[in-house]
Amino acid sequence: MLPNSDIESAVLMSGEITGWQLKSKYLLMKQITIAIDGYSSCGKSTLAKALAAKLGYSYVDSGAMYRAATLFFLRNKWIKINGSVNESKIIESLPLINLSFRYNPQLRFSETYLNEENVEQEIRQMEVSNNVSKISTLKKVREKMIHLQKEMGKNKGVVMEGRDIGTAVFPDAELKLFMTADSEVRIQRRYDEMTSKGEQVTMDQVRENLEKRDYSDTHRKENPLVQAQDAIVLDNSDLDKQQQLDYVITLINDLALVKDENNQQRIR
Ligand code: DC
Repeated sequence: MLPNSDIESAVLMSGEITGWQLKSKYLLMKQITIAIDGYSSCGKSTLAKALAAKLGYSYVDSGAMYRAATLFFLRNKWIKINGSVNESKIIESLPLINLSFRYNPQLRFSETYLNEENVEQEIRQMEVSNNVSKISTLKKVREKMIHLQKEMGKNKGVVMEGRDIGTAVFPDAELKLFMTADSEVRIQRRYDEMTSKGEQVTMDQVRENLEKRDYSDTHRKENPLVQAQDAIVLDNSDLDKQQQLDYVITLINDLALVKDENNQQRIR
């Protein structure tokens, strides 16, 4: 296999590849890390998946990992109906949780597995949504998740989305996006998403859940949701999927051009 610099020269010398395609190819050779953070139901997953598909990168939904862990604790009754948690049991059981993502070629996305079981559907249900924020405040849970996430992204070429990706998981990510959208738009999106999967929810339930999660995500002690200083804000209230994708691809290309023109260290 050619070392990276040789592959790069080969691509640059090829007369067939020009314009943005060249930059895009160049980026594929120089894998970068893309961190996407933001509030619940801002369309992070949709953008991250599209971006990963376009660049041939892997996609990681870090929220799914907190959700799968929450499901495990619910099943073991370490989260009670009244919302109280058995913290010592939760911490003790962390080594029993094995999480992975497996690509489903029919659905064309990666599904979440908890101890070899496909839990992709179950982790999106209201019971998990109502308890996940609480679980994600626990320091030991966060330590485990962040460790796994760093491992998943250690070879770069990854688009990871969540709440603390640009701040705690990949503070050195080459591209950081902070996504936001009007709260009514977000409520409608989540409602549509859940009802299209057959979940019986009302708009008020969705609103209450999002408000609670926003509060918890931004006020918790451990790695709260904050905009990284070097993150680019993307408010997608009035943007469709294609417009968002085009915007981010432009950002990526600009990033490559700036580095090239100034002869600075190139994206690795
Ligand atoms: O992205 P999501 O709504 O599926 O995330 C579910 C919860 O997980 C969210 O309320 C906060 C938490 N979370 C987190 O604390 N840190 C992350 N990196 C991702 C999600």
